[in-house]
Amino acid sequence: MYLTKEEEHIYEGDYGWASQICMKILVRLGELFDATKLIPIGSAHVSGVSYKTLGDAPAEFLEALANAGGKAKVKATLNPQSLNKEYLCKKLPEYLCKKQLNILNQFEKMGFTESLTCTPYYLEKPKKGSHLAWAESSAVVYANSVLGAWTNREGGPSALAAAIIGKTPDYGMHKAENRKPNILVSVETQLQNDVGFGALGILLGKILEDKIPIIQGLQNAAKENLKQLGAALASTGMVNMFYRDGTRLKTNEIEKISVEAKDVKQTIENLSTASKPKPDLVFLGCPHCSLNEMKQIANLIGNRKLKDGIEFWVCTSRFIKEKTEKYVEKIEESGGHVLTDTCAVVTWTDKLGIKTIMTNSAKTAHYAPTLNKAETILAPLKQCLKTALKG
Ligand code: F3S
Repeated sequence: MYLTKEEEHIYEGDYGWASQICMKILVRLGELFDATKLIPIGSAHVSGVSYKTLGDAPAEFLEALANAGGKAKVKATLNPQSLNKEYLCKKLPEYLCKKQLNILNQFEKMGFTESLTCTPYYLEKPKKGSHLAWAESSAVVYANSVLGAWTNREGGPSALAAAIIGKTPDYGMHKAENRKPNILVSVETQLQNDVGFGALGILLGKILEDKIPIIQGLQNAAKENLKQLGAALASTGMVNMFYRDGTRLKTNEIEKISVEAKDVKQTIENLSTASKPKPDLVFLGCPHCSLNEMKQIANLIGNRKLKDGIEFWVCTSRFIKEKTEKYVEKIEESGGHVLTDTCAVVTWTDKLGIKTIMTNSAKTAHYAPTLNKAETILAPLKQCLKTALKG
């Protein structure tokens, strides 16, 4: 792999251990994928922020990096952490809050933006055609497919290294030849709601593996529907990008498959594992809510109040929460909680006694049985609210 003189000096350790180890991570990765050079990036988005998924050893590595003077060279945002100060810190054991806070402090020292969201694109939309090093899989699919930016699905360490060096190896989704569609998916049913789009993603992720589909039948999809689709696609497969119908790319010589209503219905049924109809938690906001979703949830709540014995969480970023104060008030007046910085999947719902989670997110329904040891009910937004609220 070709390195410039400056990159070579970093590699040799002339700029200190923190930059050296990050450069070594990037070069190793580049060599694995036959990259010939490093390219500058517009931003990095780092996952592996939650203590629940990270654990102690990676947290020690972060501390060593921060103590050695590691600093982000480009705009670098962070994925959700395992709890939030205002609500979950008070309910969970104190040592967990301390461990999490220590991780956050290391990122802060290194100049990372405390965005703590899986939807960094709502804070600042990356430029079309810009190269990124993003590690949250749902954001990767959204960036490549909806925003027209170019990013591989980074792991936590490679996104961290890219943030500190300001560059990423030039391979995979950074090359035009790897962004061509290679399968045509015809959706033979009108997807009705958020759950339909998510279920389609879960189903296709399993079938497509790492192929790039053109998906026909998404004419009426809102951006939030595409967010659900992408998050789910990335949960069960290695799909990093999809095209919607209307693309001018040639489709006559590629493989074709179709998805029917019964396939989507079956997927939704499979994602609902609960043995009882009443959930302990109704969770909306996976991926974190947009401004529109906050508005929609608040308007649908009206003057209703939460039913006894049910927790109701709406997760979003601090950025969106600040912009949607009146909707936040409405949700909280109902007895619900608008949580920033975290989500149900990356926190310890089991330690809160939550055994059944109802959600409109296929991604959450896919992960909750293993990551939260919870049973799931996957249902559209309106039904989730109906279950959570009286009246
Ligand atoms: Fe975001 Fe948590 Fe879902 S990090 S994509 S809300 S699992």
